[in-house]
Amino acid sequence: MSFIEYDNRIKEGDTAIIFLGHESMFPVKIQEEGKTQTKYGVIRHSTDLIGKKYGSKVTCSKGGWVYILHPTPELWTLNLPHRTQILYSTDISLITMMLELKPGSIVCESGTGSGSLSHAILRTIAPTGHLYTVEFHQQRAEKAIEEFKEHKVDHLVTVLNQDVCKNGFGVTAIADAVFLDIPSPWEAIEHAKLALKGEGGRICSFSPCIEQVQRTCLALEEHSFTEINTLEILLRVYNVRTISLQIPDLGKGGEDNSGAEFDRGNQSTQDASRASLQQGSVQFKSGVPPREMLRQKKKII
Ligand SMILES: C[S@@+](CC[C@H](N)C(=O)[O-])C[C@H]1O[C@@H](n2cnc3c(N)ncnc32)[C@H](O)[C@@H]1O
Repeated sequence: MSFIEYDNRIKEGDTAIIFLGHESMFPVKIQEEGKTQTKYGVIRHSTDLIGKKYGSKVTCSKGGWVYILHPTPELWTLNLPHRTQILYSTDISLITMMLELKPGSIVCESGTGSGSLSHAILRTIAPTGHLYTVEFHQQRAEKAIEEFKEHKVDHLVTVLNQDVCKNGFGVTAIADAVFLDIPSPWEAIEHAKLALKGEGGRICSFSPCIEQVQRTCLALEEHSFTEINTLEILLRVYNVRTISLQIPDLGKGGEDNSGAEFDRGNQSTQDASRASLQQGSVQFKSGVPPREMLRQKKKII
């Protein structure tokens, strides 16, 4: 298993996602002697998981079942152990696009934090790109190194345990893109400029407060960056619910007219629509907000 390639079968040492439902999943490290407790009972790794296909439905000791999912950066973002605030997939998608990340990109990032963004970057830049990620908190840097190894992406990433504002990214004139998620990004702009390639490099800084955004924009101008934009992405999930509609009495002609509405679509859809209209209500599926929306902090890029 690797976070950048799909493997069919569950093996010892893998990180798998135990999926009990969209609101309930967690990562587990697969070990020969391992046992995992769920509300549906125990899962024994040796007999229930190792050798099975990813995506399998596994029955637990109390008779309930779970699915075992292959890890992806998106699932990791939802399930990783939090050491810091993290970036979620909505912002990650915009950052990836605006930084023009692609296979082969050289990227600098600081701070590493919990590695949520790092995993997404690594999947995007594989197999030939490289990520230089700088984290000044020693335990966070060490934990990130450990996770990158476990997830078999360590060949694509260099973790530096240093202060990016004082010591920079450890590379010069090679980065296609620089990303900052630190409290004082304006202090790292000079180092970002040094790390970026001579022409056409892109930089993105992610901040929760507008004052941080202002100071960063000023520092970017001072260092001759151009085309500076401030963006915020808001994910809006439509609230779809069941409603009752009053059916107006349109008389005979009206009935004929409403019948014309059913000329489109297939017969079974038409029959279902007719039936629900006759009962005076229309049924819809309810909308489910993505899990990340429950946790997301507001930040401005
Ligand atoms: C909000 S977290 C980053 C979260 C990360 N983007 C993610 O998605 O998991 C900010 C991290 O930056 C680190 N940090 C803050 N200032 C720093 C600096 N000057 N140099 C290096 N790391 C720094 C903090 O220790 C913290 O781990």
